[in-house]
Formats: sequence, structure tokens, C-alpha cells
Amino acid sequence: TTKIIMDTDPGIDDAAALTMAINDPKIDLKLVTTVAGNVTVDKTTINALKIVRFFNQSIPVAGGAEQPLFKDFEDAARIHGESGMPGYDFPTDLPTPLKKTAVEALHDEIMASDEPITLVPTGSYTNIALLFSEYPEVKSHIKEIVAMGGSLSMGNMTSAAEFNVFTDPDAAAIMYKSGVPIVMVGLDITMKALLTHKSIETLPTLNEAGKMLHDIIIHDGDNSDAGIAMHDVNTIFYLLHPEAITTKDMWIDVVTDGAAIGETVGDIRGAYHDGKTNAKVSVDIDSEAFNKWFIEEVRAIKD
Ligand code: BDR
Ligand code: CA
Repeated sequence: TTKIIMDTDPGIDDAAALTMAINDPKIDLKLVTTVAGNVTVDKTTINALKIVRFFNQSIPVAGGAEQPLFKDFEDAARIHGESGMPGYDFPTDLPTPLKKTAVEALHDEIMASDEPITLVPTGSYTNIALLFSEYPEVKSHIKEIVAMGGSLSMGNMTSAAEFNVFTDPDAAAIMYKSGVPIVMVGLDITMKALLTHKSIETLPTLNEAGKMLHDIIIHDGDNSDAGIAMHDVNTIFYLLHPEAITTKDMWIDVVTDGAAIGETVGDIRGAYHDGKTNAKVSVDIDSEAFNKWFIEEVRAIKD
């Protein structure tokens, strides 16, 4: 099993990623930390607790950064709704979040682990940047960071920038310069592996988890005839099926000001950074395998 921590901003696709991480027996989800992103952090924390409660788990949840390091906060409620996770009546008797902050919880969990842990951020990287500045010793205890965010091609917030990196570009720059191995799971693959409407219609026929996912996914504001992007779920898919995703080693720089703020610039030719690399960048994905896997993961969940 792979020990992971998810740092997340649920968010519809975050909720789906949490669902897979909680239920797949090959993944051991030790901790969930939250960050402002799709909606404010008080809401993303409640949404994370809703998913943990839905599956009757006792995985700890710690609330994190309320806003980016320097930039003004802009949410994505127009895509994910005012609550961030609309469309399903979750239980209301939610567990309580940890008393400590996300940064403290991350530090404690990483340092207490008997093996290097994998970090899976699916929101902006503010908590991770704060963690690395406050506790640099954690870096050598992290196996890798499998991060949703960025793009080598087009953005989805601006033409240049993907939402998670756009939200806190300064944090992204700190993370990419940290020296910790990073897998960039960006729009280049997440916009390709759309969950098809056929897959979405199958979900409620599977079980209650499938119904829950269906009901929130159909509220995603970013819906096309070809399907709906499940961006964050691609991180978990990568952990379980790396053979279905093609990566290329390169150096990623993050633009932290100007019109292209939040853009991830990949040194595709390897010329500028002299062949030095700081990330495995996802460049292609088997979309059919992703859809099949998504359905099978949900089908395997016991009500
Ligand atoms: C990312 O932005 C958020 O809205 C999604 O949850 C995902 O993490 C995609 O750009
Ligand atoms: Ca997210």
C-alpha cells in the first residue's frame, strides 16, 4: 500500500479523488488537510469532513490556509457552486476537525511515519509552502508529491494559468524549487481524460457512493458534450496505474507576476536549465482506461 496525505479544497473533483483514496485498498490515506480554493477554507473543511463521514471513516482532517501567501484569494464557486459540493444531502453529524492547523498536522504525520509518505495536493499549494518554510526537515521524509495543477499548454483560469497554480503562484514556486520529487498532474492530461456522460450515467446504478458522486458531478459548471474533467482524480489514478500516464522529466518554472501569473513554464527542450529537471510532467493519458478504472473503483465500494 502507498501511504498518502491529501491536501485538498473540495470541490467536486476533490471529493471524487477523496472517494478513491479512502476506498482503494492499495492506498492508505493517513490525513486530510484543507486549503482555500474552490471555495473558502471553512467550506472546504466541512466538505472534506462530509466525505470522511459519508464513508464512516475516522481519518483526521485539519483545516489549513485561509488565503494564498501574497496574492488576493479568488474562488471557483462559479464551477463548484456556493457550497463547493452541491447536489447531495450528506449526513449532518460531522466529525470535528483536528485542533491543530494543517501545517502542524502535516509536520506531525510526516515525521511520525515509519516510511516516506506521498503528498497529494489537489488544491493550491499554500499549506505545503508554509510547511517547507517552517519545517524544512520534513522534505527528506516525503517520498514524492503528486500534485494536480499546472499545464504545458492552455490554462483554465486565464489562458496561461491553471486554477490551483493561479490561486497561489508563490506557493507553487516554492514547492517546485523545494528539491522534493514532484509529479505534475496538469491540464494536459486532465482535460483529455474526461469522465464521459456514459460513465456518469452508470454511477448511480452502482451503489450509494456512485449516486453521491453522480449527484455532485452533474453540478460541475465545466461540462461539455465530451464529458466532465475529474482533474484531481488523475492523481490517484497515477498512483495506482502509472503505466496509463506518460510523463516527461523537465524543469518547471512558475510565473509569479504579470499577465501570465500562475503559468507553469516547462523547459521542454531542456536547454534553458541545462537538462536539470525538477518534475515528472504528465503529458499523455489513456482516457478509456481512466473511465473504466473510475467505474470499477466505485463499483468495488460496499454500501
Ligand atoms: C483544479 O481546480 C479546481 O477547481 C479543481 O478542483 C482542480 O483541483 C483544476 O484546474
Ligand atoms: Ca481541487
